[in-house]
Amino acid sequence: MAENEVIGVVERAELIATDVRELVIRPEPPATLRWAAGAHVSLGLPSGTTRDYSLVDAAPAGTIRIAVLRDPDGRGASVELHDRIEPGDKLVIRAVRSEMGLSPAASNHVFVAGGIGVTPMISMARRASTTTTPWSFHYVGRFAGHMAYTDELNRIAETSTGPAHVNLVDRSTAPRPDFAHLLDDQPTGTTVYCCGPTTLIDDVERICAERSLTFVSEHFGRRAVTAGAAPQGSKPSDETLTTIDPDGGFVVEFARSDITKEVKAGQSILEVARTIKPGLSFSCSDGYCGTCETTVISGSPDHRDTVLTDEEKKCGETMMICVSRSCTARITLDL
Ligand code: FES
Repeated sequence: MAENEVIGVVERAELIATDVRELVIRPEPPATLRWAAGAHVSLGLPSGTTRDYSLVDAAPAGTIRIAVLRDPDGRGASVELHDRIEPGDKLVIRAVRSEMGLSPAASNHVFVAGGIGVTPMISMARRASTTTTPWSFHYVGRFAGHMAYTDELNRIAETSTGPAHVNLVDRSTAPRPDFAHLLDDQPTGTTVYCCGPTTLIDDVERICAERSLTFVSEHFGRRAVTAGAAPQGSKPSDETLTTIDPDGGFVVEFARSDITKEVKAGQSILEVARTIKPGLSFSCSDGYCGTCETTVISGSPDHRDTVLTDEEKKCGETMMICVSRSCTARITLDL
């Protein structure tokens, strides 16, 4: 284990909605984990996989709570946490990061959650409920049985210091809310927070931009790459900058290992890199945590992450190899 990592013992694990399992984890030895509403924890699993999960909330006695949606078509971590982890099992708490906090300047908070995207929003609503700032929570689920934490949300609203409103939308019986209409009515100074599927986030982000509302989000899915978008970032290369299929294959030279490998369509650079260096660090695998940042020696990355700034992408010195690809037929990395 690295210096800042601590063991987390699973204290409780139970199904709280269809395909949603909640785990309460206790640091061992007892440690106070510093985190803010909207934070996520990076967990190392017994299989060796590391994944990020939003913290639902702190639970009693210094424990933390996460909720995991079982995804049989995913990369296996959710199935491991549902099917193979039981109370008493040990995980590694690698880091706690806060990237989506409550805006202190907001005069009104609107939370929009889709599916398991409710998890970071619960802690933010709880935090908002301790202030006099009004807030509303719109939670959309495929059907009622899939929607975790609905009772808890209602309780938070009932005991809120300021005005609060919870709107639960079961898509099996009701249409998706008209967010354009809903956000038309929000006062100046509103901050909108959104977490859930990429399509929901993109819609709400666009509507907020049209109304000049502050928008904060955390992506649970990968953003679609706009076809024909100009490549961001380039470094001198002896390869001619070639327009290649953005999702097609390319060649990666792992300079330090002196190994060259092909990354095929549908594969990530990270997957290929781990066949050479199995211990290579990564976490979210979705381009938002920054763990897999790698130095580019030559070639032109096709950046698809949400970590680097536009300036950094233009500069092209590093890339997130879990999601980003190559604009050139060959790219050389410091690995
Ligand atoms: S593993 Fe998180 S950005 Fe690549």
